[in-house]
Amino acid sequence: MPRQFFVGGNFKMNGTISTIKDIISHLNSAQCSADTEVVISPPSLYLLLAREHLRSGIEVAAQNVFDKPNGAFTGEISVAQLKDSNITWAILGHSERRVILQESDEFVAKKTQAALDGGIGVVLCCGETLEQREANKTMDVVLAQLSAVAKAGVKDWSKIVVAYEPVWAIGTGKVASNEQAQEVHKAIREWMGKELGAETAEKTRIIYGGSVSEKNCRELAGEGDIDGFLVGGASLKPAFVDIINAKA
Ligand code: G3P
Repeated sequence: MPRQFFVGGNFKMNGTISTIKDIISHLNSAQCSADTEVVISPPSLYLLLAREHLRSGIEVAAQNVFDKPNGAFTGEISVAQLKDSNITWAILGHSERRVILQESDEFVAKKTQAALDGGIGVVLCCGETLEQREANKTMDVVLAQLSAVAKAGVKDWSKIVVAYEPVWAIGTGKVASNEQAQEVHKAIREWMGKELGAETAEKTRIIYGGSVSEKNCRELAGEGDIDGFLVGGASLKPAFVDIINAKA
């Protein structure tokens, strides 16, 4: 059974009411492949705007969520509040939160568990820095990030999409080569087979992020273990539709 192609647009801390409305209007009128699952992720302030104006069939993701159900956690958003707002996905463990905000593998795992328990899908990010790659630590780092989620007790990975995002390719224009990306995706899938079972390994989408553009997406999409993309800068541009249609 082929895995459904998945393309996420991570707007990060970019956009205004006006520019996000323009992006939504373009997506609503674009010819997007029905075979691609599309999720866009604006800053928290604009989640409801996106949900309200986007056509059905395109889902909305938060760029983070807290692991506690409610209470005195200034600045945080809960899983229940996402559900209440019909926000169906959360991007968790993005390298910018792991590095800048110092989110540990364990904290990301707890948030993943909380999101899944609350019925929110998770785009679970992993990836190594250039230093770690050059020290041949890529798989040690990536598998530690993913193992933390398994160790936290997450057994059902059916609502998890794994996003491999080499930190050195994010926002740099230096996209990973097909071989580099496919090698890590394949190793992640093999790890899943050993640790989580053949069915989970076979069914889980493993998507690539890091300087994906309309120019490189088709070639990358042709790799056997690349099931889609998590797109940053290019998701803010009209050519994002070409990435959505990379397999069409
Ligand atoms: O989450 C996706 C993001 O990290 C990739 O960013 O701008 O390299 O596509 P970009």
